[in-house]
Amino acid sequence: MCGIVAYVGEKKATPILIDGLKRLEYRGYDSAGIAVFGKEKIECEKKKGRIRVLEDSLSVDYPEGNAGIAHTRWATHGAPSDLNAHPHWDCNKKILIVHNGIIENYIDLRKKLKKAGHAFNTETDTEILAHLIEEHLKNEKSLFEAVRKALNEVHGTYGIAVMSEEHPGEIIGAKNGSPLIIGIGDDEHFIASDVSALLPYTRRVVYPRDGEIIRITKDAFEVRSIKSKEEATSKVEKVEWSSDMATKKGYPHFMLKEIFEQPLVIRNAIAGRIIPEEGLAHLGGLNYTVKELLQVDRIMICAMGTAYYAGLVGKYMIEELLGIPVDIENASEFRYKRIILGKNTMSFVISQSGETADTIAALREIKRKGHRVLGVSNVAGSTIARDTDGGIFVHAGPEIGVASTKAFVAQIAVLVLFAVKMGRHRDMTVEQGKEITEALVKIPAQIESILEKSDEIKKIAEKYKDVEDFLYMGRKFNFPIALEGALKLKEISYIHAEGYPAGEMKHGPIALIDKTFPALFVAPKDSVYDKTINNIQEIKAREGDVLAIGSESDTELPKMVEDFIAVPETIEVLEPLLTVIPLQLLSYHLAVLRECDVDKPRNLAKSVTVE
Ligand code: G6P
Repeated sequence: MCGIVAYVGEKKATPILIDGLKRLEYRGYDSAGIAVFGKEKIECEKKKGRIRVLEDSLSVDYPEGNAGIAHTRWATHGAPSDLNAHPHWDCNKKILIVHNGIIENYIDLRKKLKKAGHAFNTETDTEILAHLIEEHLKNEKSLFEAVRKALNEVHGTYGIAVMSEEHPGEIIGAKNGSPLIIGIGDDEHFIASDVSALLPYTRRVVYPRDGEIIRITKDAFEVRSIKSKEEATSKVEKVEWSSDMATKKGYPHFMLKEIFEQPLVIRNAIAGRIIPEEGLAHLGGLNYTVKELLQVDRIMICAMGTAYYAGLVGKYMIEELLGIPVDIENASEFRYKRIILGKNTMSFVISQSGETADTIAALREIKRKGHRVLGVSNVAGSTIARDTDGGIFVHAGPEIGVASTKAFVAQIAVLVLFAVKMGRHRDMTVEQGKEITEALVKIPAQIESILEKSDEIKKIAEKYKDVEDFLYMGRKFNFPIALEGALKLKEISYIHAEGYPAGEMKHGPIALIDKTFPALFVAPKDSVYDKTINNIQEIKAREGDVLAIGSESDTELPKMVEDFIAVPETIEVLEPLLTVIPLQLLSYHLAVLRECDVDKPRNLAKSVTVE
């Protein structure tokens, strides 16, 4: 949520900052702003709306200076408006700041600053930081020190970049609970919320830790502790992603590109991790000895959004294959309740971005209780990737579409590998290990065959484009898929959709069904097929339209329902990897037909860095 970019170097800052913002737009898109050093002073421009609105508003004589900061906003305190957009400034408009996060004690600080004579322009929590830094600069020559001292008075989360007219050629950044990285170029340095902003300029980055403050100039960077001022150890790391990976590659939307990347994504997620002749999976990063794996008697998975649903698939799968109970917890709930973990409970957090605030808080809470935590993440260098005690990278490449697709299948694929690895150390036979891994290897080609049906799915979408409600149902492994399908639909097409276990239907949801309220069933030919068919008949008896996702070999179900999308057959535990694909395509086509902004759905942001 909220994207920050800052630049100091020899090039013109404005185009780099605007391009960086566009690359970060998925983090928030209700307003944007930029501040660049002009010949005599810093020029700041900010606008409600998308980055292109800001870009169009920049006059031809907007400064061509070599240092600046910029921001794309997802509003927390203060409605989206030109005024509330970042950067914010102090009384004299000489200190400018961009911020991602929430300053929790801003009301007290505001009162104190008002008493000291500061006048406020906006309703934001961020503005107090500019005034607080101004206050410290009264007794302090160094901008770095003024920012550091100001931050010592602040409670809350922040990723910030600050510049001051009196201190040209330097930008101060700081991080606590919000993502922030340093980019190292040749005679130039950057600060950004994540690597996507920097990919065309540099792949050398430093990941500062929470509680650290940064200074960048054209020639150098330094990282210190906000509290003690002590120099921090900072390692320059190479980003594996290329700039090209974060482009649409000819697709009209990132989401569609990412849906079509899924065969490759699964191939990458499992590459080098299967030992076929032994029906075994190899996961080097778990950091659990075999002895420790054997002691695990419970697994707890914590996540948010789509990652939570991947965890729910994981629960069904791990319980089925390993006979170990799995708890799946919503991180925003988990973090505030009593945490009951046994000494042999294995804990996982799942997060595509590795920066979701609630998931990070849950991870910290588990660690505080003295337990180890494993991560399933897509972003190397992210907070979750760094703060966990081990884990599994999903290697899905940058996911830019706000609605997660490819990360979901990659998360499930690595959970399958985990289940096989764990199972083979326990009582899973080599045959069963082989059966699962062989079926997994076939999944990418099977997904390709579903993707070929995109036009067919679009035709179905045309029939449903004006409905306002949808009920999604499935059983067992496909219950989480019903939830994920319904989430995708509401996220990007704004059609109200509810996901339910099909068996729960008669306990309420069926009351909604009439001619205008269709139901979607995920009903492949598996161990619960007959039960799901009964539910379909019950909807039909009440004149509800049914759209079903079923098996290619099913000749009966297509006759029963209005619309049918066939998926290839696989073993039951792997069905979710196939059944989710038509649901992603259906929501995509419905969103396009309803003229929704697929990659930037209203009110949402990709990386939810505030709770
Ligand atoms: C947001 C995104 C979702 C994502 C969820 C969790 O809601 O829009 O697509 O599933 O956050 O994100 P994470 O990065 O932790 O997987």
